[in-house]
Amino acid sequence: MPLITSTQMFKNAHKGGYAIGAFNVNNMEIIQGIVEAAKEEKSPLILQVSAGARKYASPIYLKKLVEAAVEDSGLDIVLHLDHGESFEICKACIDDGFTSVMIDGSKYPFEENIALTKKVVDYAHSKGVVVEAELGKLAGIEDDVDVSAKDATFTDPDEAVEFVKRTGVDSLAIAIGTSHGAYKFKGDPRLDFERLEKITNLLPNTPLVLHGASTVLPEFVKMCNEYGGSIPGAQGVPEDMLLRASKLGVCKINIDTDLRLAMTAAVRKFLIENPSEFDPRKYLSPARSAIKNMVQHKIKNVLGSSNTLK
Ligand code: G3H
Ligand code: 13P
Ligand code: ZN
Repeated sequence: MPLITSTQMFKNAHKGGYAIGAFNVNNMEIIQGIVEAAKEEKSPLILQVSAGARKYASPIYLKKLVEAAVEDSGLDIVLHLDHGESFEICKACIDDGFTSVMIDGSKYPFEENIALTKKVVDYAHSKGVVVEAELGKLAGIEDDVDVSAKDATFTDPDEAVEFVKRTGVDSLAIAIGTSHGAYKFKGDPRLDFERLEKITNLLPNTPLVLHGASTVLPEFVKMCNEYGGSIPGAQGVPEDMLLRASKLGVCKINIDTDLRLAMTAAVRKFLIENPSEFDPRKYLSPARSAIKNMVQHKIKNVLGSSNTLK
């Protein structure tokens, strides 16, 4: 079984009204937990590697670990670069065998984002690799944020059409109110579904991507806090909103923070309950299981991608 691109996966998801989970990976236990869950659920899977993950593990380790996961599980997996910030890192990953890259030019003015994205698309497509780009800036909707502030940061539907047309990008990450990390909303969680519907209607054939889509489940925050952690006030995207988004053209949902919380809660719990244990395998086993359970929960109840492997 090979590493594959997301092209057919996204077509199936778009048609079926579900989303594919894109999970961030940093080490062996995280990869194993995610892949075991996807295999049991018979779900398509995207494993994504950030620049920080490449630096932490060194590029070759993550690539080889993902290759081992493909060989061991027999699953087709997409290997994706998350938030590539330059042409150079995208090229390095493409040359390394990644099947998908994100060029994140969202911090640049519109024309510069287009030029950078187009350069990556041209190189990637010449090597059979697909590209995700981002338009708009991730930020939560706060109760006191007015319409003009929202318009300045969230993805503009007409610009999205022009962006996709001029870059030839394969999928587009949009900003509708999500943000990265565990503290996403100051007031009630809200996403701009009206904007999402407009973008989907204007770009019916472009798979949309939601970054910053962790739910920050209260039981994991509680567990982290109970066992010596301190992360008060964490708040994520409610699961019903993610389900709604997946019926409105969002084909890829990015999840990292929820995995971090699950893994850390499991390690904290184990070490507090077993203070004399110091074998890393002893505390990394429950950590790996916690990752698996979290991913299985997402696939079944949030993404809707169980039993969709063709
Ligand atoms: O969107 C960012 C991901 O959560 C990856 O985070 O850059 O700390 O690896 P990282
Ligand atoms: P979270 O921080 O909500 O998990 O988002 C992860 C992400 O968007 C990775 O690109
Ligand atoms: Zn992201």
